[in-house]
Amino acid sequence: MRRGGTIYLYELAWILPSIAIPVGMLVALVVTAFGAGVHLPGDAGRIDPRRVAETFEPGIRPLAPGQYEVRMTGQIWSFAPGEIRVPRGSTVHFWATSRDVVHGLFIPEANVNVMLLPGQLAHARARFDRPGRYPIICHEYCGIAHHTMAGWVVVE
Ligand code: CUA
Repeated sequence: MRRGGTIYLYELAWILPSIAIPVGMLVALVVTAFGAGVHLPGDAGRIDPRRVAETFEPGIRPLAPGQYEVRMTGQIWSFAPGEIRVPRGSTVHFWATSRDVVHGLFIPEANVNVMLLPGQLAHARARFDRPGRYPIICHEYCGIAHHTMAGWVVVE
């Protein structure tokens, strides 16, 4: 009787966490996705992948004081615009796509890490508080000169 009770307690000690952990993860997922609005950066719209060059003009424009919108394209093997200049403390809203093959848009010092798929708009937002030059890197293999594909965010 006592022995059976011990086994039961051990089983319970394993079963309860194995239920509690996935339930806790599910709750965390639901709270962050629907409560805090945390989503994967990525699919923010589509444009015709064959006409990106005509319909999506790269550039930077101010939205409000300290807020900038950057429309960016990746193409073999460069970013347009290749350099983005903003004052310190700016928040930059990136809208980006690819003109040809799959590229990546990665700014290690900011929280920007998205794939650029032809015709699919990716959106990411980053705040730049410290002055400096921040590399923009393509982190999806896109051909023979992939390793040279880079740009800069210059915070003044
Ligand atoms: Cu573009 Cu690698």
